[in-house]
Amino acid sequence: MAKIKSVFICNNCGTTSPKWVGKCHACGEWNTYVEEVVSKEVTQEEKRRPWQGANVSQTGPKPVALPEIKAGSIQRLVTPDGEFNRVLGGGIVPGSLILIGGQPGIGKSTLLLQLALYTDARILYVSGEESEDQIKMRADRIGGDPSNCFILTETNTTKILNHAQQLGPQLIITDSIQTLSSPHIESMPGSVSQVRECAGELQRFAKEMNIPVIIIGHITKEGSIAGPKLLEHIVDAVLQFEGDQHYTYRILRTLKNRFGSTDEMGIYEMQATGLREVSNPSELLLSQKDDDLSGSAIAATMEGMRSMLIEVQALVSRAVYGTPQRSATGFDLRRLSMLLAVLEKRGGFPYGQHDVFLNIAGGIKVDDPAIDLAIVSALISSLEDIAIPTNICFAGEVGLSGEIRAVNRVEQRIQEADRLGFKKIYISKYNTKGLDLDRYKIRVQTIGKLEELYRDLFEE
Ligand code: TYD
Ligand code: MG
Repeated sequence: MAKIKSVFICNNCGTTSPKWVGKCHACGEWNTYVEEVVSKEVTQEEKRRPWQGANVSQTGPKPVALPEIKAGSIQRLVTPDGEFNRVLGGGIVPGSLILIGGQPGIGKSTLLLQLALYTDARILYVSGEESEDQIKMRADRIGGDPSNCFILTETNTTKILNHAQQLGPQLIITDSIQTLSSPHIESMPGSVSQVRECAGELQRFAKEMNIPVIIIGHITKEGSIAGPKLLEHIVDAVLQFEGDQHYTYRILRTLKNRFGSTDEMGIYEMQATGLREVSNPSELLLSQKDDDLSGSAIAATMEGMRSMLIEVQALVSRAVYGTPQRSATGFDLRRLSMLLAVLEKRGGFPYGQHDVFLNIAGGIKVDDPAIDLAIVSALISSLEDIAIPTNICFAGEVGLSGEIRAVNRVEQRIQEADRLGFKKIYISKYNTKGLDLDRYKIRVQTIGKLEELYRDLFEE
């Protein structure tokens, strides 16, 4: 097959060159050249008035009046993995292109091979990373029904799509986009232009054949899916698989979804036999302990649309060196510094002379501001060495002047705490609009300021 011509274009000034060069001769910038595929030659007249070319409107889609488009004809492919369906808004839409990103070793291949093995549909699993034997070994560990799952170890997109067309699967999974290479383009697999070209080919195939394609993408160190943002607008949905490698919990998040909400998340637990869906996260994230220990508090947080209770642990000890240490796992260090400054200024607590360590249980990362109240409670509890009873939880944001601010979906948080048998929840007094507090068994304590929290919790 003839190669499509490509040129190299400077990202900075737009100068073109037939070869890749490190330094742009026009603007002097380094490392700005990217490969672009140039389309076939057109005549001068076609270039000037492209809409008047011969047969322009003979092929391809034509404008259709919106009422004439049949609704409800889309049949989503519903997988047996409830978390996965939920994250995608109720299953896989035919013809869609879905990108799943995540750090190496987090479990992307496991998640999708498991999906392929347990879904009752013909699935083509393309792997450029592992051999057939390795995939077989993994499949044996995971279990399921392998009869409808086809494995192809190939990286050439033309060959892959050719096989796919012959096989006619209901879903294609490619692991990973960084290993694929299109014969139409010269760059190395994994380079920006290869990634873009391969994704483009997969997208056209998906749309034309109406077969959904899931692509796995590795994440760069900075946390973005490799090929800076470049795939995100090509694909219909972007999911991110994340978690701490030292813990077994994995979270699947929606970053973009053309067919559903982006507020969804799914939780899994990595086991020896693959990933298990976790439908009730709170019970797992609370450490089971009998004694009340100082420095620990429980937050009623929201992750996406789901509420869960998470334990916060703080350790405050007298600083040995002049500059006290601050360390936080699963929480933003700058926000911790801010909370410490608020406690010092508004409450007069001497954190300036203490080392502070903060840990969110389960290796979960939380950016819900409602966790603030649990964090300050844990910090005070550790400093004063007074334990907080384990049947109390918190949901509130702490402002710079020490005020406790309202948080979203407070009702859902209270319900979850109530359901799990907590006796008392602290929320902001500005958060009670429309709440019927008598509905719950749990006692809802409203507070407006840090002083009130301190008085209520530690002075009684
Ligand atoms: P993998 O799916 O290969 O990660 P990725 O494709 O994101 O790079 O997952 C690798 C890890 O998962 C590896 O450390 C082993 C672990 N694992 C299990 O704990 N149980 C299992 O059943 C499987 C298949 C893998
Ligand atoms: Mg993998």
